[in-house]
Amino acid sequence: MMPLSSFFSVVVIALVSSFTSSAVKTDENFVQCLYSYSNNSSSISKVVYIKTNSSYSSILKFSIQNLRFASNSTPKPFAIITPKEVCHIQAAIICSQHHGLQIRIRSAGHDFEGLSYVSKVPFVVVDLINFREIEIDVKKGSAWIQSGANIGELYYMISEKSKTLGFPAGFCPTVGIGGLLSGGGYGFMLRKYGLSADNVIDAHIIDVKGRLFDREAMGEDLFWAIRGGGGASFGVILAWKIKLVPVPPTVTVFRVSKTLEQNATKIVHKWQLVASKLDENIGLGILLHRVNSSKKDESTIEALFQSTFFGGIDQLIHLMQENFPELDLKREDCIEMAWIESVLYFLGFSSREALLNRSQPITDSFKAKSDFVMNPIPEFGLEGLWHMFYEDGAEGALMELFPFGGIMDKIPDSETPFPHRSGNLYIIRYSVPWLQEGYEIAQKHMSWIRRLYSYMEPFVSKSPRAAYVNYRDLDIGINNKGYTSYKKASIWGFKYFKNNFNRLAYVKTKVDPLNFFRNEQSIPSLLSKGRN
Ligand SMILES: Cc1cc2nc3c(=O)[nH]c(=O)nc-3n(C[C@H](O)[C@H](O)[C@H](O)COP(=O)(O)OP(=O)(O)OC[C@H]3O[C@@H](n4cnc5c(N)ncnc54)[C@H](O)[C@@H]3O)c2cc1C
Ligand SMILES: *[C@@H]1O[C@H](CO)[C@@H](O)[C@H](O)[C@H]1NC(C)=O
Ligand SMILES: *[C@@H]1O[C@H](CO)[C@@H](O)[C@H](O)[C@H]1NC(C)=O
Ligand SMILES: *[C@@H]1O[C@H](CO)[C@@H](O)[C@H](O)[C@H]1NC(C)=O
Ligand SMILES: *[C@@H]1O[C@H](CO)[C@@H](O)[C@H](O)[C@H]1NC(C)=O
Ligand SMILES: *[C@@H]1O[C@H](CO)[C@@H](O)[C@H](O)[C@H]1NC(C)=O
Ligand SMILES: *[C@@H]1O[C@H](CO)[C@@H](O)[C@H](O)[C@H]1NC(C)=O
Repeated sequence: MMPLSSFFSVVVIALVSSFTSSAVKTDENFVQCLYSYSNNSSSISKVVYIKTNSSYSSILKFSIQNLRFASNSTPKPFAIITPKEVCHIQAAIICSQHHGLQIRIRSAGHDFEGLSYVSKVPFVVVDLINFREIEIDVKKGSAWIQSGANIGELYYMISEKSKTLGFPAGFCPTVGIGGLLSGGGYGFMLRKYGLSADNVIDAHIIDVKGRLFDREAMGEDLFWAIRGGGGASFGVILAWKIKLVPVPPTVTVFRVSKTLEQNATKIVHKWQLVASKLDENIGLGILLHRVNSSKKDESTIEALFQSTFFGGIDQLIHLMQENFPELDLKREDCIEMAWIESVLYFLGFSSREALLNRSQPITDSFKAKSDFVMNPIPEFGLEGLWHMFYEDGAEGALMELFPFGGIMDKIPDSETPFPHRSGNLYIIRYSVPWLQEGYEIAQKHMSWIRRLYSYMEPFVSKSPRAAYVNYRDLDIGINNKGYTSYKKASIWGFKYFKNNFNRLAYVKTKVDPLNFFRNEQSIPSLLSKGRN
């Protein structure tokens, strides 16, 4: 037992240190706390970076995927912890609470609003870059994958083991598993196999008290919440067990361009009527943007139709002639290949190894938003949209349309937190990039995309105007600073989650009632229900 005298001195030291409030002191105390809470202080010291560590900046920057949040004026964390062991994460969670710091959890940093590495209150980043093991079990058709791995690594590892297994995830290889699975996730296989989160069968999470749970121990409520409700409100998710899905030995891809001169307006209009009703073996998306026209010094709008089809060329041609002859798909537009090659084809990669390349430097800032479309946009609506692409601020802007239907119509809205299932024709992602730094440039593009968003209002989902949480957009509402009220959070919450928002708030109240895991759009605890 501790003698009383030394107990007393501990209390005194604790009091003294709590009165010193300089930033440097907080750093030191926090780091001391990490050392004392973790089992092996020499091992945790290798994964804690404070501002005086020479590699602090490069570690922070490595996973910043939007230069809008990389400037000198962006708030920086007190410390970055790149845990290698569970106890490092437990120490970070406990010590952050003791020292009044917020935690931001980062898997691969693609959050559109930088929430995984930026906060307006004092904070630390738990960066899961060292948690990225992937174990594929071909016989069982499943895999364990740690949150810090990315989609490219997952696709690569699957292709190492099997030519007939795949996973329904996103298009961009550097997107992190932690954010993707906890927010939903979709790609070309959406209509056949649903969201990435629909294919999760187990997970490991560390909660606010530092306890490590698997699916059974966390219970079905929390397991439900982390498959689409956003991970950051509930704890640090370490790893996921996913169900791999069968893919045929050959798939067919095509990419067909139609400009306004080639009747793009009519063809896009028709696409809206058919794309979500086609056989679920085809995912036919559209990328819309402004391009130089063949006439000198003029530009036009291009609709680039891109598709992966689970079948051969003959079948595909037949399917398109029957349902979508306006696209005028020709045999020579189509290529048969293995599923993994189709992934590389759309990325423009020449080898599978490129999927493993994490050092692809980011060169632009961007702002993005999302919408769901439930009724076809009339041709005049599309024409007005084309005009927007000619406005000042629209340079480089993209709209990506991806059809729903297929299995999405069969999964109930309450199955996971992602409520945008049947009734949706397609999802839209709007984005606008810019290269130069500076407030005015940023404002020009941000106000353009906001004008575009208001232009689209009559044509998209209503009451609420729905949004996809993985296309995070702080314009649709943010929590109060400091505490999160249910009322304030409902403004953005029902847009992302519809009625599932209430169940998410219930789960949050159960697992993190005092709202330690929070950010601008984290799920509120119901303890805040009376507040404004
Ligand atoms: C270029 C680009 C392409 C994209 N393409 C697609 C696409 O094709 N399909 C699609 O569905 N989405 C796509 N997205 C969106 C993407 O799914 C989300 O941005 C996703 O949240 C990114 O995950 P991340 O781990 O990289 O991001 P992070 O910024 O690390 O995390 C995103 C959010 O999840 C939280 N989080 C991350 N890891 C954990 C964890 N382990 N435990 C708890 N919380 C965690 C973070 O705190 C943050 O709030 C794309 C995004 C970009 C930038
Ligand atoms: C400390 O580490 C050892 C070996 O790594 C482990 O067996 C033990 O359970 C750990 N103790 C705590 C308190 O984490
Ligand atoms: C503590 O960590 C260091 C560095 O990782 C390692 O060399 C050492 O063996 C560890 N000690 C214990 C007791 O686990
Ligand atoms: C960062 O600096 C501290 C103090 O100088 C040191 O103890 C720690 O090991 C450094 N971190 C890393 C990852 O090198
Ligand atoms: C565009 O459509 C019109 C009729 O709707 C047709 O006459 C014309 O040939 C089409 N143009 C192209 C390039 O397909
Ligand atoms: C489009 O044209 C402009 C000038 O008219 C030129 O600067 C630009 O590089 C062209 N873009 C492409 C992709 O060819
Ligand atoms: C990774 O990609 C970058 C940018 O495209 C390139 O410069 C680098 O050589 C690549 N690294 C590897 C190992 O292929």
